[in-house]
Amino acid sequence: MNFNSQLLMELVNTYGPAGNERLIREYIIGQIKDYVDEIHIDELGNLIARKKGNGKKIMIAAHMDQIGLMVTHIDDKGFLRFTNVGGISPYITLSQQVQFENGTIGIISAEPIDNIAKLKLSNMFIDIGANNKEEAEEKISIGDICVYRSQYNENDNVVFTGSLDDRIGCYVAIETIKQIKEPTNDLYFVFTVQEEVGLRGAKTSAYRIDPDIGIAIDVTGSGDTPKAKTFAVGLNKGTAIKVKDNSIITHPKLRQIMIDVAEKNDIPYQLEVLEYGGTDSGAIHLTKSGVPTGAISIPTRYIHSTVEMVSKSDVQNSIKLLTKVLELQFDF
Ligand code: CO
Ligand code: ZN
Repeated sequence: MNFNSQLLMELVNTYGPAGNERLIREYIIGQIKDYVDEIHIDELGNLIARKKGNGKKIMIAAHMDQIGLMVTHIDDKGFLRFTNVGGISPYITLSQQVQFENGTIGIISAEPIDNIAKLKLSNMFIDIGANNKEEAEEKISIGDICVYRSQYNENDNVVFTGSLDDRIGCYVAIETIKQIKEPTNDLYFVFTVQEEVGLRGAKTSAYRIDPDIGIAIDVTGSGDTPKAKTFAVGLNKGTAIKVKDNSIITHPKLRQIMIDVAEKNDIPYQLEVLEYGGTDSGAIHLTKSGVPTGAISIPTRYIHSTVEMVSKSDVQNSIKLLTKVLELQFDF
């Protein structure tokens, strides 16, 4: 299994902020349609792709939405004010290029401030190079969402680009779909919407599917950069099996099964105890009377920036672990 740079580059470069996932959904459908038995799009826009099997009903979730900036106001000179869609840092946002669904490009700047610590999204603006309000309104409306533009780069070890959260999870799911020929279990791969604003798509799709088991695929942080907060996860040390984040304590039996599979197949892994953040697993495990749920995480540096970084070998090991786990016969 080679690293599919082309697929990942196209995934991270396709527009799809939370609440407006149409283009990324269409792109993913094009990549998986020949490898799945059924495709359904639910009322919120989740993409549910089924690979039929006779065993347990397993929901695998990767969110296809990305963080973005939503226009709140257009002034007389054509400058746009905005609010965040998901976790947006003002420091990371300053001086970025952004792109809207219709291709309009802008840059982010700020009012003059004496102290950088006072930088807030509310004193920043988007400049799309319009001469006045009317010209800006020909391209942009209140409520439109733009996303950061970023460059895709990779070397032998890592990939660095924006939107790896969670297009790298989508990548792992797509590559796993292609790996599995005769599913042991009844697999529902869900490319969820609106994770970045509160795990919303996972909630409704899990209710519909009513799975026996849930597995989320998402990024986690890393504790391996200079003076990073203590965290026993780093790049190039293997896929991460989640124990906890702020949305879930993963199901102990399912977690142990994942660990056993990794040990048995010599797949490098690390145990992840994340002291912040959440994943779609948090929504899935609270569905109806409860669903045994775990998560496979891809260790990632600089999350929610335009220079997120993952290790290619960690990504490959995540695909291996997910594929092997989905081939098991479960007794719960
Ligand atoms: Co995120
Ligand atoms: Zn994510």
